[in-house]
Amino acid sequence: MRVGIMTSGGDCPGLNAVIRGAVLNGIKSYDYEFVGFRDGWRGVKEGDFFDLPRTAVRGIAKQGGTILGTSRTNAFEGELGGAENISRVLKDNNIDALIAIGGEGTLAGAQRLCAEGLPIVGVPKTIDNDLDATDYTFGFDTANQIAVEAIDRLRTTGDSHHRCMVAEVMGRHVGWIAMHAGMASGAHAILIPEVSTPMEQICEWVSEAHERGRAPLVVVAEGFVPEGMEEAFSVRGVDTFGRARLGGIGEMLAPVIEERTGIETRATVLGHIQRGGVPTAFDRVLATRLGMAATNSVNENAWGTMVALHGTKVLRVPLRAALNNLKRVPMDRYEEAAILFG
Ligand code: F6P
Repeated sequence: MRVGIMTSGGDCPGLNAVIRGAVLNGIKSYDYEFVGFRDGWRGVKEGDFFDLPRTAVRGIAKQGGTILGTSRTNAFEGELGGAENISRVLKDNNIDALIAIGGEGTLAGAQRLCAEGLPIVGVPKTIDNDLDATDYTFGFDTANQIAVEAIDRLRTTGDSHHRCMVAEVMGRHVGWIAMHAGMASGAHAILIPEVSTPMEQICEWVSEAHERGRAPLVVVAEGFVPEGMEEAFSVRGVDTFGRARLGGIGEMLAPVIEERTGIETRATVLGHIQRGGVPTAFDRVLATRLGMAATNSVNENAWGTMVALHGTKVLRVPLRAALNNLKRVPMDRYEEAAILFG
């Protein structure tokens, strides 16, 4: 059996640990051979791949990024897109199965290809932790760790200058990183896309903390918009050349907080730092287990499924489960955290 592996979508600490887990389990348990497609669906569509012998995955569990490269290319777009060409690429190169590691978009593509008869299994990936079918995604723990380290540093400079510090973290649809990093770093306000908090409330939390002699700390997810200010904050999302971009909410909030509270305020965007560097031990273990389980899925011809963490167990669920609702931060988690705000 010859198995292809690809990583697609935004990169994520732990991708290399998945690749290593899949390859080592395949070689040791089933005597499989592996190849790695370059840059996600692009490499699959163009038949651009290289051999992945055991030596290729030596020591990579601790490496950030992905040794395969990644892209946001869609499986179905362009002349080479779609099941017919991808099936031909696999057949022409004697590749019997594909392990697709990616987020919602990647897994949606994989599911469509499976529906058309291709032998694919999935591994869910996103630092945002917003996939409903799995309790945690690898990369999320690392992103939190990086965010907390950065926010702890922002705190000491905020304390010295008696300033309010706004830390913007990733999370375009959901606020899991903001929730966890904010709670871990003792934020005075956590702002997430799921809860449309009014500016008055944010300023009240900031002022309360300031009055107690603290340097107020606000942790905001990039997808947050204050209640009633949707229009004022809508310029966000376009760069100088008119291209769509995310982020910028921290820079938009800081002057409003400063103006309304009279407290000097600075914003920092943590950005892609959250996706870089070595994965935490938790993410390495989770990613390795998912990679190993994906190879077991291949061995059982479990096409159209993906591996998922349920509690402490790694299970198999239909790929379409990845495409269900986004896993949002539940209101009771937010309300619990909010008791400590201000
Ligand atoms: O991987 C998801 C994510 O981290 C989002 O939180 C963020 O908005 C997005 O990626 C940015 O990714 P890129 O700049 O690579 O398109």
